[in-house]
Amino acid sequence: MLWQLAGKKNELAGGSVRTQVAIIGSGPAGLLLGQLLHGAGIDAVILERQSRDYVLSRIRAGVLEDGTVRLLDAVGAGARLHAEGLPHDGFELLFGGRRHRIDLQRLTGRRVTIYGQTEMTRDLMDLRASEGAATVFEAKDVALHDFDGSKPSVTFTKDGVAQRLDCEFIAGCDGYHGISRASVPGSAMQIFERGYPFGWLGILADVPPVSHELIYAGEERGFALCSMRSQSRSRYYVQCAADEDIANWPDERFWDELRLRLDPATAEALVTGPSIEKSIAPLRSFVAEPMRFGRLFLAGDAAHIVPPTGAKGLNLAASDVHYLSQALIDYFGERSSAGIDAYSAKALARVWKAERFSWWLTSLMHHFPQDSAFGRRIQRAELDYLAGSDHAMAALAENYVGLPY
Ligand code: APR
Ligand code: PHB
Repeated sequence: MLWQLAGKKNELAGGSVRTQVAIIGSGPAGLLLGQLLHGAGIDAVILERQSRDYVLSRIRAGVLEDGTVRLLDAVGAGARLHAEGLPHDGFELLFGGRRHRIDLQRLTGRRVTIYGQTEMTRDLMDLRASEGAATVFEAKDVALHDFDGSKPSVTFTKDGVAQRLDCEFIAGCDGYHGISRASVPGSAMQIFERGYPFGWLGILADVPPVSHELIYAGEERGFALCSMRSQSRSRYYVQCAADEDIANWPDERFWDELRLRLDPATAEALVTGPSIEKSIAPLRSFVAEPMRFGRLFLAGDAAHIVPPTGAKGLNLAASDVHYLSQALIDYFGERSSAGIDAYSAKALARVWKAERFSWWLTSLMHHFPQDSAFGRRIQRAELDYLAGSDHAMAALAENYVGLPY
């Protein structure tokens, strides 16, 4: 059997195809990188382990920084986002029984856009398909070769037949569990990580959101988040034990627990309904350094993970591939390696600021089981300080809307 790509036909089983950049993974990082390169006339093939439908069935976060929106516009994938996305000028912090609004617009002159990562992925996939750019779904046994030399390649199996892609660079955009980071010898990499003693239990339901803006709640029973995907679809989370069994959480228990973590007016206004998705996500901070190994670059979750508080994961993937695409455009345009040499340090500088922010907001808003009464008082003092200080709120807002790049 052959795998056929626009302008690329691999007639022989076991034969090889050439491309400039092999992109591993068709999540947001791989897809956005693919379009940024395509727009600059650089040829790339995306190899994705899963099927298109599987990738589009994953429910992820949904807050886009304006930098992410700008990139989507730049590649021509912004139309539906602007038509259906919800611009948000602020969000609320709930603690001590009261909600405190963080006015992003007043504090930063900027806003965020609520648009599901799943929808953004769909838009990028549709665009890529309409432009005839090559994606191989269900590419099995992907293996990276010779990225420490001058002629890297990627082998994989498609429909049971071994295939090879020869390339100049490999972009590892295959997420935390991908093969790219795992292909690098441990001795060449430094890992920084922190676990948290809790997870998020999330529910998606076709009910109107309880409030037109997001509410991050940090009350005694633990963290809760009221979010949304649209005017008629809500996304809610409650902090749960790290080893919680989802079978113990029928919808009714979830809604009851959520109400207990909200202020009375919000709890009263909450509209509940059957869940259409329910899952538990662990919380983790993780960074692998560097983000370049010879002709292999890592981008997005392949290189770093943030806890979801603040919704930085997707936005970091976007800034990574912005830096990486610029570096590759310089390389192929001017044969200058200055950009690719600087990629890792440039990307990591922004990654670490988002790591700090996500860790800080997580630490501020969650109930830490081992925390002493002293720790709780410090959390509360910091929240009080935030709510009463424009300077503190501005620092939160500046990070929330996204540091510039
Ligand atoms: N071969 C090919 N593809 C692979 C392999 C592999 N060995 N391993 C993983 N993949 C694919 C996954 O199936 C997935 O579609 O790589 C893709 C990685 O996508 P994401 O996990 O979405 O990662 P990324 O594109 O970096 O996006 C970062 O999206 O996943 C969220 O929380 C994450 O919000 C963050 C953002
Ligand atoms: C979400 O809608 O899934 C979401 C929103 C904000 C966050 C995290 C997740 O900080």
